[in-house]
Amino acid sequence: MSGPRFEVLIPHDRIQQRVAELGRQISIEYAGRSLVMVGVLKGSFMFLADLIRHIDVPLRIEFIGTKSYEGTTTSGQVQLTKDLDRPIQDEDVLLVEDIIDTGLTLNYLIHLLEQRQPRSLKTIAFLDKPSRRRIEVHGDYVGFTIEDRFVVGYGLDFEQRFRNLRDVCVLAP
Ligand code: IMP
Repeated sequence: MSGPRFEVLIPHDRIQQRVAELGRQISIEYAGRSLVMVGVLKGSFMFLADLIRHIDVPLRIEFIGTKSYEGTTTSGQVQLTKDLDRPIQDEDVLLVEDIIDTGLTLNYLIHLLEQRQPRSLKTIAFLDKPSRRRIEVHGDYVGFTIEDRFVVGYGLDFEQRFRNLRDVCVLAP
């Protein structure tokens, strides 16, 4: 029996190039300030790790966890699985997502974090699938806009697998 087959959608080199660009843009826009980068577990961990190596303003890292997906279909419900460890009041916060799909997760997290009274709150998503949106929400920074394909790799999973792929891939049927 053969294993799953992957079609490369965004190759590793292109990802690295784009992540570096985003890091430079963020460094310019936040020059003279400091940042709290909030990674949304688990999918954003690789993007966050690469991105911060291109940001040259002082920063600290927090993680927040949500759950909404069962397999490839969304349940429409967002649950918090891990909260921040420290307050973000009066901080410049950048929320780091792997992908904006229906928008439900990002919308939920924006509302949750706004209640903590940050000085500012912006969002960055590695990927964006605007055609799947069920709620009006957008990333302030976006790595790549993609079509409605279920993707894995570079931190993104299918049933907790394939996060370790270097490229963003579509699972071939
Ligand atoms: P939402 O539908 O925008 O709330 O996205 C919720 C979460 O679903 C994202 O943060 C991802 O972790 C996951 N997700 C959405 N689309 C994909 C995909 O194509 N591949 C892997 N995970 C996805």
